[in-house]
Amino acid sequence: MTLAQSLDPATRQALIARVRFYRDLGLTEFYRRPVDSALLVQLAGAWETPPPPSAVQDEPISPQPSFFPEDHSIPPRKPMPAPPAVASAVPAADRAAALQLIREDLGDCTRCPLHSGRNKLVFADGDPNARLMFVGEGPGADEDAQGLPFVGRAGQLLNNMIAAMGLNREQVYIANVVKCRPPGNRTPEPDEANTCSPFLFRQIDVVRPEVLVALGATAATYLLGQRQPLAGLRGRVHSVRGTRLIVTYHPAYLLRDPRQKKEAWADLQIAMRELGLKPPSRG
Ligand code: URA
Repeated sequence: MTLAQSLDPATRQALIARVRFYRDLGLTEFYRRPVDSALLVQLAGAWETPPPPSAVQDEPISPQPSFFPEDHSIPPRKPMPAPPAVASAVPAADRAAALQLIREDLGDCTRCPLHSGRNKLVFADGDPNARLMFVGEGPGADEDAQGLPFVGRAGQLLNNMIAAMGLNREQVYIANVVKCRPPGNRTPEPDEANTCSPFLFRQIDVVRPEVLVALGATAATYLLGQRQPLAGLRGRVHSVRGTRLIVTYHPAYLLRDPRQKKEAWADLQIAMRELGLKPPSRG
């Protein structure tokens, strides 16, 4: 029996939440040392209440999860379409149809193992002509059930973040690195993300947002093509496929640690500056 299997469900949930918390902070290197199991039981009681089952599923902790990288590089991508030159940009009036073609190319996708646990493929939501696009990691349980991105608790927070910027959800475009729900909401494996992300890049190339916001480390990793701690990526403007990219925390992480909302707001203000937006007045 592995250590993970020997833990009671509440301890496992707390451990999963804690490791995700560290991952979202950009801390991805861990090592294991022998731990007295009596101490683990004691610690379990001291941890915060784990998030509800819809936010964190009871999932096995494999001995070497995908976010325990040996180094900071991710496996090379498959060749992917180059960003279109400005001259070949899809005219605004044709973008909805161009996105529909990408959706049709995906079809009833079986390109990676994630398809087998999928209820609904989650393509995107929002305005095909949006100036601002958000990229998340992958669908959770609510998204898998409804076929739309960010419709659960994290989605409600994202809606609030968008409102704080003086916009509404219908004015932005929202998509994910992977379009099918990873089992137990685990991080997508590099193979899965590399198989699916070319479709995300095609979506970006059609929408051509002025600003992209990567929500969390997975989105930042696959948009930038390199794994780096989130802390080192925030606070500046990157360039991806001819578009400016801002990196911030994932809303699910902000739900777990609301103190970081201030930091996320600072990131969103960079996006607003790039878009020439002023925050809405509160009066
Ligand atoms: N988390 C994500 O990364 N994407 C979603 O669509 C929902 C939750």
